[in-house]
Amino acid sequence: MREAVSQELEDGVLVVTVDNPPVNALGAEVRRGLVTAMERADADEAVRAVVIRGEGRTFPAGADIREFGKPPAEPWLPDVVNRIEACTKPVVAALHGTALGGGLEVALAAHWRIADRQAKVGLPEVNLGILPGAGGTQRLPRIVGAQKALDMMLSGRHVPAAEAHELGIIDRIAEGDLLEEAKMWAREIAGRPDALRPTGARTDGLTDPESWRAACAAARARLEKKSPQLFAPFRIVECVEKVIELPIDEGMAFERQAFEACMRSPQREGLIHAFFAERRARKIPEAERGTPRPLERAGVIGGGTMGSGIAVAMLKAGLPVTMVERDEEAAAAGRERVAAILARDVERRRLTPGRRDALLAAFATTTDYGALSDADLVVEAAFEEMAVKQEIFRKLDAVAKKGAILATNTSYLDINEIAAATGRPEDVIGLHFFSPAHIMKLLEIVVADATSDDAVATGLQLARRLGKVPVRAGVCDGFIGNRIYNRYVEEAFFIMEDGASPYEIDRAVRNFGYPMGPFEVADLAGLDIGWAARKRRAPTRDPRRRYVAIADKLCERGWFGQKTGRGWYRYEEGSRKGQPDPEVLEIVASERILKGVPTGAFTEEDIIRRYLAAMINEAANVVHEGIALRPSDVDVVAVHGYGFPRWRGGPMKYADMVGLENILADIEAFAEEDPVVWQPSPLLVDLVRRGGNFDSLNRD
Ligand code: 3HC
Repeated sequence: MREAVSQELEDGVLVVTVDNPPVNALGAEVRRGLVTAMERADADEAVRAVVIRGEGRTFPAGADIREFGKPPAEPWLPDVVNRIEACTKPVVAALHGTALGGGLEVALAAHWRIADRQAKVGLPEVNLGILPGAGGTQRLPRIVGAQKALDMMLSGRHVPAAEAHELGIIDRIAEGDLLEEAKMWAREIAGRPDALRPTGARTDGLTDPESWRAACAAARARLEKKSPQLFAPFRIVECVEKVIELPIDEGMAFERQAFEACMRSPQREGLIHAFFAERRARKIPEAERGTPRPLERAGVIGGGTMGSGIAVAMLKAGLPVTMVERDEEAAAAGRERVAAILARDVERRRLTPGRRDALLAAFATTTDYGALSDADLVVEAAFEEMAVKQEIFRKLDAVAKKGAILATNTSYLDINEIAAATGRPEDVIGLHFFSPAHIMKLLEIVVADATSDDAVATGLQLARRLGKVPVRAGVCDGFIGNRIYNRYVEEAFFIMEDGASPYEIDRAVRNFGYPMGPFEVADLAGLDIGWAARKRRAPTRDPRRRYVAIADKLCERGWFGQKTGRGWYRYEEGSRKGQPDPEVLEIVASERILKGVPTGAFTEEDIIRRYLAAMINEAANVVHEGIALRPSDVDVVAVHGYGFPRWRGGPMKYADMVGLENILADIEAFAEEDPVVWQPSPLLVDLVRRGGNFDSLNRD
């Protein structure tokens, strides 16, 4: 059997290897193995120094997150790291891959650290709703100071080896073989009087107490502004404050308490759910069966906002892109848009001018479909109309090489109908990007009836290459995200007509944790988009279903949101911050009178309960119908595409935490008022009957 931690004595150096794939997480077995190794190092005279390293792809990347929420098994990680620091023989940590969280805390407890050039270090616990709980909040600041340590722990960012070396976190960068150099170095320092250098006793990072407290106060002030609802970041600042006041053991006791408070917080549950949900979403059965096709050249059809964003995303991932537009003027405009996005990146120093030029050199625009004949994958991002799309796919079918993936970025349309315009529906797939496509991380991979496994595997490969968060969706009006979005926006309209102002609704939704409310989002996206969709659906709308015409009234006045200076809000010249508009409230009031709807006052809680019940019920249907493979996929879509607060995990996780029986009770109460709109999802009803929850359906 493989040992989680092995020891090998080589010429006086005890090489301690952690071998716990895939990321060498510090599970109970690993922790026990590390303690055993330290005991041996102390007891065995033949051991003169120790090297700790990771087998496979990385030094330990953290505590074992799967153990969280279960009763903790001994030895605890804080005791393990203290045991390492107390070792009577010098300990060198040899870092490669990603030394994160508990992994970096192990390394910080070692007396010295060497890393290869590709290594990264970080304390990303904050992203999981917790804090470094094995001395990280106490040891890192003793090396790098309060400000740098707070920057790392509050952002969770992965710091490249070179920067970590400059900061003093890493003492040496290995030029050649990491393990050989680590062993050589360990042998060199063994027996030297200064070889035992406990980080807990270091003072190089410390400043006078006043500056220390000022750095902590500044970090707290930034948090108050940026993320006042989050729990863990504030606890991190409190821990760092203690570094200047307390010796390491008392500081670690304080850290322990703060860590446990974070572990108990529902935000920890939400964030860890989000972490695993993202990883589970990449498990797509078709992709696992299929083989990705080579991806070397890409095409984009349409140079509008979506098309140019997609082109930029692909260019940055190293794919040459040819963009096709219907005429020279539109092609030039597409080129301008791509150049403008890249110019902004240069301005913000995210891109060097040289790299921008190289990207533009890999980009071509044309009106000739023939230029797509060597593309491995083409994404169509043209006007959202079936006839237009079918015409494009007919042309593509005529020119694309055999085996090319033909993707549509449609948000709503039936991909089966689009695929039917070609003689190769097995190569047709939906790749639904979110605007702006070069920034937003979500990518819905929409699998149509005839889409081949290889096409899905290629879509997933593309997502990985572009650094996107992929989610598999089935074909329906709006797929996963927009279908659910349409339902809760509809509900926001109902709530508005029933008595809450759009501004109250936006505020409630923001206070729930969204960056923006639905009316602000509509103003940003353009009210004309929803208007067009409503007109398209009008002929098939259930005549019994309630319909709120207020948004249409705004559109009839030409108020399309930010771009026209008016929408749900009024915008001063050049401002993106809207002001409530009394005229909008008048329109709302007169519609209420016209319809004779009884209005009432809404608390924020009333608004949120109805809004979320609509979202969750529709999401349950999306899972029930197999449009989403599992509830956690819906959560990923809501978090990455629609601003659902990540710390709540997603709407399905939220529903589980509130209790499905409570959600269902709300829906049933709303159904008494409006049985057409509020039909409880069969999945929800079934789960409540069985005493189950959405999480029970989350399988890999
Ligand atoms: N515990 C348990 N499993 C973990 C894990 C962890 N810390 N980190 C990753 N995994 C699992 C993933 O779930 C995934 O499992 P799967 O194959 O069954 O889906 C597998 O390892 C591979 O992970 P990725 O798909 O994410 O692989 P990547 O190569 O893309 O990324 C990584 C590797 C950068 C290490 C990324 O996995 C990551 O960011 N992991 C979390 C790191 C982290 O947050 N560490 C801190 C943990 S908390 C802590 O240490 C507390 C301490 O202070 C007391």
